[in-house]
Amino acid sequence: MKAKEIICKINVFEPAELPEEVRLLVEEARSATERSYAPYSHFCVGAAIRLDNGEIVVGSNQENVAYPSGTCAERSACFYAHARYPEAKFVEIAVAARGIDGEFVEDPISPCGACRQALLEYEMLSGNGVTVWLVGRGKVYQLPSVASLLPLAFTDF
Ligand code: THU
Repeated sequence: MKAKEIICKINVFEPAELPEEVRLLVEEARSATERSYAPYSHFCVGAAIRLDNGEIVVGSNQENVAYPSGTCAERSACFYAHARYPEAKFVEIAVAARGIDGEFVEDPISPCGACRQALLEYEMLSGNGVTVWLVGRGKVYQLPSVASLLPLAFTDF
């Protein structure tokens, strides 16, 4: 038997330390939370994806009275990005959220398992790591790729 270790490296940024173009992406993710449809959870999430054609595509969580029919911000954004610009590669994604008090969350939230799997597909199409920015009020996590969020992912059959 051999032990294997999978390490996920995260850079933790102060919001003020973010490079200018990342700040812009973060702002897009934050403002997308205003367009969440979250009458059930009252938890508003926004995602913004930068594509290699220069476009930024945003999405927000869209809930449904039949709860599992709703979808997260990350999947709204990635499905729309690829539907709208099928030739473009994903470069980076930012995710922001406001809690039930309406305030941006202090600590970053992280995509659910289904969103990780969906995002991974587009990361693989892009052929490069898609940088992930998880946005909290007090700190922003930078991950090098979606794959780093989904070790031992299912990628082929
Ligand atoms: N949600 C997202 O949109 N993204 C996440 O990363 C986590 C959760 C949504 C799903 C649901 O509408 C609400 O947040 C509460 O779970």
